[in-house]
Amino acid sequence: MYNSLDERSSGISGQLGEIQGIVSSGYGAFRFMSCLLFQFKSPKKARRSLKKVLNQVSFNDELTQKSDRRLNLAFSWKGLCLLNDAVANEGEELFKREFKEGMDTEYRRKLLGDLDDTPSSPREWLWGRNEKLWCQNEKQVVDEKQEVHLAVLVYEGSEEKRETRVKELLETLEMELVDRGRIDSQELKQHKEHFGFRDGISQPWMKGLSVTEGSAADEVAWGEVVLGYQDNTQTVERHPEIAFNGSYLVIRQIEQDVKRFWDSFSTPEGDPVKLAAKQMGRWPDGTPVTLEPDAAKGSVTNDFDYKHDPHGINCPVGSHVRRCNPRTAPGRNSGKKNRHRILRRGRAYGAAAPAEYFPPQLRSEVSQKAEVSQKDHTQDESRGLLFMCLNANFERQFEFMQRNWINGLMGTLAGELDPVASQLNFETFTLPDKPFRKRCPRGDAYVKTVGGGYFFLPSRSAMRKILD
Ligand code: HEM
Repeated sequence: MYNSLDERSSGISGQLGEIQGIVSSGYGAFRFMSCLLFQFKSPKKARRSLKKVLNQVSFNDELTQKSDRRLNLAFSWKGLCLLNDAVANEGEELFKREFKEGMDTEYRRKLLGDLDDTPSSPREWLWGRNEKLWCQNEKQVVDEKQEVHLAVLVYEGSEEKRETRVKELLETLEMELVDRGRIDSQELKQHKEHFGFRDGISQPWMKGLSVTEGSAADEVAWGEVVLGYQDNTQTVERHPEIAFNGSYLVIRQIEQDVKRFWDSFSTPEGDPVKLAAKQMGRWPDGTPVTLEPDAAKGSVTNDFDYKHDPHGINCPVGSHVRRCNPRTAPGRNSGKKNRHRILRRGRAYGAAAPAEYFPPQLRSEVSQKAEVSQKDHTQDESRGLLFMCLNANFERQFEFMQRNWINGLMGTLAGELDPVASQLNFETFTLPDKPFRKRCPRGDAYVKTVGGGYFFLPSRSAMRKILD
């Protein structure tokens, strides 16, 4: 346990080889990814077989080396406890409560918006449900087939290589793949998510750690993402020794209804792409709506704020990107004062939506034949965002954003939630305009949560200790 910035962290560059590679890079060059969710039936066999793949795990110091693959590992609290009693005892007191309790608790369902009587209820989830909580009858045998102990993130440059890799891992790892616990992703055209908007643009970055450095306003202290370092308030949060150089990973499988999304904008008056861009806060090509309110300009800049646009005439205050990062809005802080940044590492999963779901002007850009795909995409109906993010404090970062900005009321926007990312229904979206604001009616939510969990991404030495 350490309470102040440890001597070890003063030689920061020496720590790079300890931190898993996904912290400093989104692995953009690796366009095919699989998330494999495992359960340990025999902890002994799990430990034994995990040792065999340890040398395949990617760490930051190797990112510049020529390698055509990446692999990262993250454990749930239950997984850690099964693998190593000593680690569990050490972590019991000091690992974050959210990590130990998991994503599916009565309290957290309300907090995250996965409400019991909605399509996002964990009762309906494909994986990650806490079966014990859903067992009506105490005498009923709890079938924990959805319980995830380990997430293996595989990144490859081609579909064939990904298939070979997954097959090898499934053969090597002596553990069971959770039912529906393989989620495949292949990058859509032009780095877009399924609704047709460019994703992965705005990210916080850490000096000396992140592969790409952004603007000063996006710089955060290492401790906002990596455990055991000073955060933006120069505080080092208490964690068990084993957590040093680790991070917390949120995984949420969010299904997207692309047809419903675009159908809701096809009104006789108004341009559907413009209306959708106003709700997203960026045009489909990534251009910030606050800088270019009338048309996309092919600019993916992230060096802007909303000072010139206080009332949201250009970019509505309730739009997805403005909610999730209000930048310098009054009462909010940017840069190193911002306490609510998350490092997004999400990927689109499932087949690209048929082109006819999109407005005509977008069809060629999102044509269902995704650039790098070799599959026939019309077959698979379910698609969405495998939302993943890294943070050092679930409550202050991911949960704060989900609860207050995505599913919370912003300023004077009574009754409105995040128009893109909220899984809850609400009736109107306010479009500030002159002389009067407009209220756009909405149908049901475009997204629903179909699985999720909280994980710990250990350092190189922590991984060895866990498998000892
Ligand atoms: C299916 C659901 C979602 C979709 C389609 C979506 C899509 C997008 C897009 C297109 C952008 C703009 C590009 C960029 O800056 O990277 C964006 C930004 C962002 N999203 Fe989402 N998102 C979704 C869910 C979420 C969730 C659940 C969260 C957090 C809990 C989130 C947090 C953010 C953040 C922090 C930004 C950057 C805002 C900024 O700094 O300007 N998103 N999202």
